[in-house]
Amino acid sequence: MTIKRSHITGCGAYLPERCVTNSELAAALDTTDEWIQSRTGIRQRHIAADGELTSDLATNAARKALDAAGLTADDIDLVVVATATPDLTFPATATQVQANLGVTRGCAFDVQAVCTGFVYALTIADNFVQLGQSRGALVIGAETFSRILDWNDRGTCVLFGDGAGAVVLQPGEGAGTVEDRGILSTHLHADGRYKDMLYVDGGPSTTQLAGFLRMEGKEVFKHAVVNLAQAVDEALEANGVDGAAVDWLVPHQANRRIIDATARKLGVTSDKVVVTIDRHANTSAASIPLALSEAVGDGRITRGQLVLLEAMGGGFTWGSAMVRW
Ligand code: ACO
Repeated sequence: MTIKRSHITGCGAYLPERCVTNSELAAALDTTDEWIQSRTGIRQRHIAADGELTSDLATNAARKALDAAGLTADDIDLVVVATATPDLTFPATATQVQANLGVTRGCAFDVQAVCTGFVYALTIADNFVQLGQSRGALVIGAETFSRILDWNDRGTCVLFGDGAGAVVLQPGEGAGTVEDRGILSTHLHADGRYKDMLYVDGGPSTTQLAGFLRMEGKEVFKHAVVNLAQAVDEALEANGVDGAAVDWLVPHQANRRIIDATARKLGVTSDKVVVTIDRHANTSAASIPLALSEAVGDGRITRGQLVLLEAMGGGFTWGSAMVRW
């Protein structure tokens, strides 16, 4: 029997031109490069230019993913943008991206699961493809977190950056074993009891202003380590493999110490973990597709390898995706 799976057939990434080092932040804020690097692993971040919108970042990444897949806008019938920093309250940023690309059929919508947004969006698009409702899907994570940071709050503003990453999903047939190509499993979770640990203190229905990110860093850290350990275990179990079978861990890039703890739990060595946090900081929903694009682009991730994606974010939300590349 053959079954239908989504194949990731192209990846693309885009980072704004302006790069801000820790030392530049330390010139205006009571912090140091040493504190930021030792607590988080971050050395620098990219910041969008005035007037450069989430949809602009998303469109640039999507164009590269389409090129990599050898497709054009005419082949796309689904655009999903994972973002917590949309251009406008409505319409969805995905419709702006659709218009920028010249996609005129199918559907387009945003997904809001903060740092887990890309895993949520990938899961939804994967279901569309498996059900035959999409033959070419663009899944994009794009953020301009610089616009929702309190630049006077050293506990949060040093942690985040702007950027976008995109993948193209297309249907493929196979025997459906763990060795066959495609997205093998996805698992999503949310627990709204923890919504006050990481949130933005504004929005259309409350203050009518966009607001600023607020976070209880230590609590988020503790929950992230526990939830991500659960997410990777779940993915391994669902696919009947152990950590040794995983060729690449591509984690959400929130904090180097969280990434290292998850890798240890999984039993993978650091040379099998794709790390971009040092150069990108935490780009929320964009971090996984940015990291994927880098590792596919430089030849680390190759056909046939087992790739595990995981993320955790505000809500709390968390989840994983296992992919046979
Ligand atoms: N520079 C210098 N000192 C700072 C800074 C800074 N940028 N930020 C905080 N401090 C100070 C604090 O004021 C505090 O000082 P005090 O002891 O005099 O009160 C001291 O450093 C320790 O602060 P803590 O918050 O306890 O520092 P901690 O070691 O927990 O590190 C951090 C903070 C990096 C935020 C950590 O808790 C963390 O990474 N948490 C996870 C948060 C995260 O990843 N969020 C991303 C979104 S969710 C996600 O993507 C999973």
